[in-house]
Amino acid sequence: MYVLEIENLTKEFSKNGRKFKAVDDVSFTIDAGECCGLVGESGSGKSTIAKMVARLLPPTSGTIKLLGEEITYLQGKRLRQAYQKMAMVFQMPKDSFNPRRKLGSSIQEVMTNAGIHRADAKKRTLELLDLVELKREYADRFPHQISGGECQRAALARALAGNPQLLICDEATSALDVSVQAQIVALLKRLQQELGLSYLMICHDLALVKNLCDTVVVIQGGQLVETGTADAVIGNPKQAYTKLLLESVFPVDPTETWVLPEYPR
Ligand SMILES: Nc1ncnc2c1ncn2[C@@H]1O[C@H](COP(=O)(O)OP(=O)(O)OP(=O)(O)O)[C@@H](O)[C@H]1O
Ligand SMILES: [Mg+2]
Repeated sequence: MYVLEIENLTKEFSKNGRKFKAVDDVSFTIDAGECCGLVGESGSGKSTIAKMVARLLPPTSGTIKLLGEEITYLQGKRLRQAYQKMAMVFQMPKDSFNPRRKLGSSIQEVMTNAGIHRADAKKRTLELLDLVELKREYADRFPHQISGGECQRAALARALAGNPQLLICDEATSALDVSVQAQIVALLKRLQQELGLSYLMICHDLALVKNLCDTVVVIQGGQLVETGTADAVIGNPKQAYTKLLLESVFPVDPTETWVLPEYPR
């Protein structure tokens, strides 16, 4: 069974009174324990796909199956149950924490909301901090009292509070400097191995995708242009668009100029 199965997913938006497809008939799957990279230039529809999978945005058409169950149009209690199986991590972790709340309390809340007893949730919060290699005393800190990398670790701890099988990361490491990025990548890899997590990893950095992902989905203008193992797609791209994306990261000739994908907004 696939952890995630997306079929013919489409999202229409209106721009200046005209409809356009930000995501156009996209289908792909993610296996258990697999890390799938979603790549494409700015505006190609990556975040829109992630938001639809996380049910933050309703699709125009198509289906999304999580662990074999169709979740596309779930509501109420069944939607909340489906939510337990996946979590999302964003680019700016500080924006996703309540600034007036201690980190421990924000992490704990995920569990108490799911009906877990307060004392158990508190104990588990400390274990989650261990898991992401943050000192336990960080539970008593506020978001502004920790660094960006530490905050991303705390965001991961909170994402893992519901024991999800799928983690959706939208540029989760893009705002961090290179050495901190490497530490978060190492942590993501370790969590993948230890917890058997699957990832849908949106990432501008194709070198990082090559290092971290098992499979890659390339999208352009909302459409899927190429998919396969990371080795095949990045090592030997079939489509011109993928080659162009790659060449902007791994230039063949450094004196040549390439069309660079825009920096994420
Ligand atoms: N809520 C919205 N209403 C209208 N248009 C939208 C909305 N959200 C996204 N779009 C448009 O849909 C297209 C895809 O946007 P999306 O955010 O998915 O791109 P992206 O691949 O994540 O880009 P980036 O790499 O810059 O984050 C863009 O043209 C964007 O302007
Ligand atoms: Mg985006």
